[in-house]
Amino acid sequence: MTVKLGVNIDHIATIREARKVREPDPVAAAVIAELAGCNGIVAHLREDKRHVQDRDLKLLRGTVATKLNLQIAPTQEMVQFAINVQPDMVTLVPENHQEITTESGMNVAAKIDEISKFVMTLKNNDIAACIFIDPETEQVKAAKKVGADFVEFNTNKYATTCDLGSIQEVNHELSALQDMTVLARKYGLRVIAGHGLNYRNVEPVAAIEGIEELNIGHSIIGKAVLVGLKDAVGEMVEIIRRAST
Ligand code: PXP
Repeated sequence: MTVKLGVNIDHIATIREARKVREPDPVAAAVIAELAGCNGIVAHLREDKRHVQDRDLKLLRGTVATKLNLQIAPTQEMVQFAINVQPDMVTLVPENHQEITTESGMNVAAKIDEISKFVMTLKNNDIAACIFIDPETEQVKAAKKVGADFVEFNTNKYATTCDLGSIQEVNHELSALQDMTVLARKYGLRVIAGHGLNYRNVEPVAAIEGIEELNIGHSIIGKAVLVGLKDAVGEMVEIIRRAST
């Protein structure tokens, strides 16, 4: 099974919000990512709206032709927003306003009743429900219990270990992802993975049997800034040259 790629466009919105202007527009980035062959667009609407804005989601719903996956904190207000927008999937993620990026998977096991209620509301509104969890048995069992359609395994510990750990530690993290994928599939859960994946560490995760999709943002946008810079500078040089000679 060829693993699908969901491109997370939050990082484009982060650059825009640094200036609170109109560019770069994450909606334009989503169009380009789709034209380049990705299979889905992922956007995290944080409660503090530090990067992606309500307006982005409304426009993305009208333009994304592949699959729109909206990541939100599990709150009444955010779930209601999702129902209004109607993405194809909602991924529930834990949110801490102080964090630079999502720090861990959701502790679903500790809030079964609360998460069940949100999952049911989403499914009743024809939105697939996914929960971002660490690859741990207790959390996979809890995701099954709350009725999720999908789990997204947090690959951040694997990614950090690839940079800082030994081969044995990397293999340990890969085994956890592998074993938890098998368990999730056994329970009928579909499996996505993401966070911290990059051009150096993605291959072993993409090769795990049973993972359907990888969600990747920072490394793709980071590379785009560099490989696209030549064209961006060249275009500006050309505009200035034409206007001034
Ligand atoms: N999945 C989730 C739940 C995330 O919070 C993020 C980061 O926004 C990603 C995937 C993508 O991670 P990265 O930007 O490190 O590729």
